[in-house]
Amino acid sequence: MRTQVGIVGAGPAGLTLAHLLHLERIDSVVLEDRSREYVEARIRAGVLEQGTADLLREAGVGERMHREGIVHEGVYLQFDGERHRIDFDALTGKAIVIYGQTEVVKDLIEARLATGRPLLFEVEDVSVHDVESDRPEIRFRHDGVEQRLECDVIAGCVCRPSIPAGVLREFSREYPYGWLGILAAAPPSSDELVYAHHDRGFALLSLRTPELGRLYVQCRPDEDLDEWPDERIWEELHARLGLTGWTLTEGPVLEKGVTGMRSHVVEPMRHGNLFLAGDAAHIVPPTGAKGLNLAIADVRVLAEVLADWYRTGRRDTLDGYSQRCLRRVWRCEHFSWWMTSMLHRSPDADLFELKLQLSQLRYVTSSEPAMRSLAENYVGLELA
Ligand code: PHB
Repeated sequence: MRTQVGIVGAGPAGLTLAHLLHLERIDSVVLEDRSREYVEARIRAGVLEQGTADLLREAGVGERMHREGIVHEGVYLQFDGERHRIDFDALTGKAIVIYGQTEVVKDLIEARLATGRPLLFEVEDVSVHDVESDRPEIRFRHDGVEQRLECDVIAGCVCRPSIPAGVLREFSREYPYGWLGILAAAPPSSDELVYAHHDRGFALLSLRTPELGRLYVQCRPDEDLDEWPDERIWEELHARLGLTGWTLTEGPVLEKGVTGMRSHVVEPMRHGNLFLAGDAAHIVPPTGAKGLNLAIADVRVLAEVLADWYRTGRRDTLDGYSQRCLRRVWRCEHFSWWMTSMLHRSPDADLFELKLQLSQLRYVTSSEPAMRSLAENYVGLELA
């Protein structure tokens, strides 16, 4: 088999890249090791920056998002028994769209299948070869048959394919906590997301649809779900999100799971003719919901530089890919780390740290420049 761009991973990054390349009449093959059912059921975050929503719409894959997505013009930060609104619209003129990553992936898969271009699920033993040459190759097995896919370039959009040691630098941070998340058949009790700092730990009220709530409580990174019957989860949510004069509506828990918290970046986001995008290049903790937005921002740049290269034959724009992306990546890494550090209780934190968190929360909810800084990062900065 032969293609122009071999894409490893059918998450938001890989599928969006495939679609943007299709619009530029560039050929690609998308390989995914999971099944379509698995990929379409995997629950991830659900906040799209305005720029992400605009890109999906302009690419012609935003029709259902436009219909079903819910526009939010702010979020709440809660601490010390008070809830404060950050007004995105007033501070930045922009908004966010609540629409699950799972739904974005379903729409992208449908769009891909409609083009008739290849998207293979349940491929096994994927490996990349000769990425330093101009004929890189992906080897894999599909339906029991060994395959070789010869490419001009390869886009690595899931955990990183093999790259020789010493070529990339890695930067990471682990956090001593995780999130226990539930999807509940309960209408959201707040018109906008609530990020809560609390003595018992962080909590987040979010939603997927007008009927489905998505809620999280800070837990241990290795938390055992068996110790968390639904009643205990609701009890924690009530305690951490509760306010006088406001009630949290409960409902049947449809799903629950624990998410780890990690920051990770690899540099550069390219080795020879292998380009890294999305989770292959960076991980952010979920506070601030940057993961999906960063992945889409990477492939927007990647599609642009690849199209330019196919048009002109010049490699200099390709050479700028990593540096252009990393500016946004590090901004989002900082924002996610900062939101995470401001809102969670570390098991080993002292009272000094607690006082700093509360002071910072008071500052970002009272000083207009500080509020605007949070808001412009949350709705997404125009970078690259
Ligand atoms: C979610 O709805 O899953 C969500 C929302 C905001 C976050 C993280 C996750 O910061």
